[in-house]
Amino acid sequence: MIRKTLIAIGVLALLSTGMSGGLAAEEKIATLRGAEMQTLPVPPAMGKVENTDLRRGRAYPEQPPTIPHKIRDYQIDKRLNKCLTCHSRAATAESQAPMVSVTHFMDREGQFLASISPRRYFCNQCHVVQTDAKLLLKNDFQDVDSVLGNAKKN
Ligand code: HEC
Ligand code: HEC
Repeated sequence: MIRKTLIAIGVLALLSTGMSGGLAAEEKIATLRGAEMQTLPVPPAMGKVENTDLRRGRAYPEQPPTIPHKIRDYQIDKRLNKCLTCHSRAATAESQAPMVSVTHFMDREGQFLASISPRRYFCNQCHVVQTDAKLLLKNDFQDVDSVLGNAKKN
């Protein structure tokens, strides 16, 4: 028993020196956490959800538009889809919300169904609310218009 415990302690000691050795000096790993693995970073404050009704631009044509209103406590389950009470084809005349586009009626073979395809039922799988959160990392994404603009210049 004592011998086993000693061996276990030995193995642990070896492992831990091995690990800290691996992360020595310059060998720091770039991470979204903003801190090394061993330290607990302070999480950034959660972004505030915008409820402005102002649509943001889409970065590319196939991008699911972001949601320009709050969706807190909107139920989406087997019984009810709160989003569809405004966005379904039948509801839009009254709600004045934009109708889900035709792609939401297509099955995976591209056939149009009479109602929303099950693939598009859980709206927040693709659509997210807009928040005032800051970018976690800088990026140099370019809109296709600027890519084409640059190509013409060359
Ligand atoms: C009470 C009605 C209502 C409900 C419920 C609702 N919406 Fe909306 N939605 C709107 C209206 C109206 C707009 C148009 C912009 C605005 O006025 O905010 C809109 C805009 C949007 C847009 C932007 C569309 C575009 O072309 O840019 C998306 C995406 C969207 N809603 C998704 C959702 C999702 C997902 C849910 C459920 C989680 C939901 N909405 C629930 C009324 C509603
Ligand atoms: C699998 C991803 C996905 C799911 C799930 C999904 N959408 Fe979309 N949605 C998109 C994409 C991509 C677009 C933009 C291209 C298009 O119209 O198909 C879009 C566009 C829209 C638009 C804008 C339509 C327009 O003509 O401007 C609305 C409104 C919308 N979705 C609402 C919803 C609602 C409500 C649900 C849930 C019932 C839902 N979406 C589920 C991906 C999705």
